[in-house]
Amino acid sequence: MKCSLFLLFISLTFSSVLARGGLSGSATTRLLLEENHSQNSNSVDKAKGYMSNYDLEQAVKEFGRRCSNISRIYSIGKSVNGFPLWVMEISDKPGVEEPEPAFKFIGNVHGDEPVGREITLLLANWICDNHMKDPLAKLIVENVHLHILPSLNPDGFALKRRGNANNIDLNRDFPDQFFPMNNDENARQPETRAIMNWLREIHFTASATLHGGALVANYPWDGTQDQRRNYYGCPDDETFKFLASSYSHSHHNMSLSKEFHQGIINGAFWYPIYGGMQDWNYIHGGCLELTLEISDDKWPNANELPTIWEYNKISMLNLVASVVKNGVHGRIFSSDSGRPIPGSITIKGINYTVKAGRAFADYYRLLAPGKKYEVIASVPGYRSKSTIIWLEEATTLDFILDPEETLEGNLLRSICDCSGGVTTKLVWGYHMEICFVLVIIAFLCFLLKRRTIFTLGKPRQSSKSRGLPEMSIGL
Ligand SMILES: *[C@@H]1O[C@H](CO)[C@@H](O)[C@H](O)[C@H]1NC(C)=O
Ligand SMILES: *[C@@H]1O[C@H](CO)[C@@H](O)[C@H](O)[C@H]1NC(C)=O
Ligand SMILES: [Zn+2]
Repeated sequence: MKCSLFLLFISLTFSSVLARGGLSGSATTRLLLEENHSQNSNSVDKAKGYMSNYDLEQAVKEFGRRCSNISRIYSIGKSVNGFPLWVMEISDKPGVEEPEPAFKFIGNVHGDEPVGREITLLLANWICDNHMKDPLAKLIVENVHLHILPSLNPDGFALKRRGNANNIDLNRDFPDQFFPMNNDENARQPETRAIMNWLREIHFTASATLHGGALVANYPWDGTQDQRRNYYGCPDDETFKFLASSYSHSHHNMSLSKEFHQGIINGAFWYPIYGGMQDWNYIHGGCLELTLEISDDKWPNANELPTIWEYNKISMLNLVASVVKNGVHGRIFSSDSGRPIPGSITIKGINYTVKAGRAFADYYRLLAPGKKYEVIASVPGYRSKSTIIWLEEATTLDFILDPEETLEGNLLRSICDCSGGVTTKLVWGYHMEICFVLVIIAFLCFLLKRRTIFTLGKPRQSSKSRGLPEMSIGL
């Protein structure tokens, strides 16, 4: 085991010369050749026509000024060398919490894959210019909160290399589901921490990161338990195949790939990676993320950028719009107070929970269309309800749950309601955790109470006639 972990780390170190692209023979050779080529040749010319980090900052701010009615500029933190990680939020009510889904694009995760930082800015500006006339752009502005981080790795970009200023591959720096790596919060890179904190603040429904070195839409899982190259689907395999295929088929020619069937691939089947951002998003962020490789050449000549943007434009817009145009969404209410109650949604047969938003109890459950699903809403202290739907286009499904009229139910409700009120300032991620802890405390109280009643009742009634079993509380 030790040995295999060691081998894993060795292989990770070596794989860092590659993109998330191409372990398959020819592609590998090609990428390695490109890598060598770029190192000893004109690296100054490479950046020609690309925005510098300073240019990018100016472009983001200029976008914010020009499109101030539908955008907000903010930073999620700083890179190792102190460069702000700027985000453009696009919405008709930027920065305002609404019962709407959120989507994110992240570019330039790898410093030497700069296409994403350019085309995310083209996307933002295109939406700004067209949201009054283009139906897709209008739909996005009115119904989605779109957050765009053009560059997660400005330091790597400046150094024209894959890793950040500490030469760490940011797409291997997240906690991993199989191996106890990157679990030390303080050892994590500031760029990684910024992403993790961002997901605690904003409840994203879906997202995509933009890479280069291949032309394919990659979906979870990215790793396998046994480290072998195998197809390893996550619980939402069907959903992901649908999302990835939608992307590749709206792209100019991604779906025509000879290397990747239909232009999509399961990450673990391509080649397993550990500590990736995509799997972490799905497991811990409640966010369905794709890793998009959008150009065979990691660092193409800048004059190819307008073409690459044109090839990806409809795919990018469709992917964002899919959070409202696909799946099932709605809100969860309490039947007694009529108030929204933030609970969770599960689908029978899919081992994955989607949480509803804290303020509006709105949920967005992406699913592959053309199938029957049983949708289950649950909230502590309420009776769960389920509904069977035949899903084609997006379906709106609200739930009105009845309180559980038991001692436990009342306790759970009062505690969760109360904590809901007290913690409205807390971010979404913490609310359910606090609630969960309180629920456990409530249950312990309930047990103690039962015991007290029982003990008090004892002198008046024989334990036989009460029929209550003696409870042992071994806590
Ligand atoms: C897609 O089009 C580009 C530009 O024409 C070309 O270089 C690339 O080889 C094509 N890829 C596929 C899979 O057809
Ligand atoms: C569901 O997923 C969790 C991890 O999220 C896992 O611990 C559990 O064993 C899974 N349950 C089933 C029935 O597969
Ligand atoms: Zn990459």
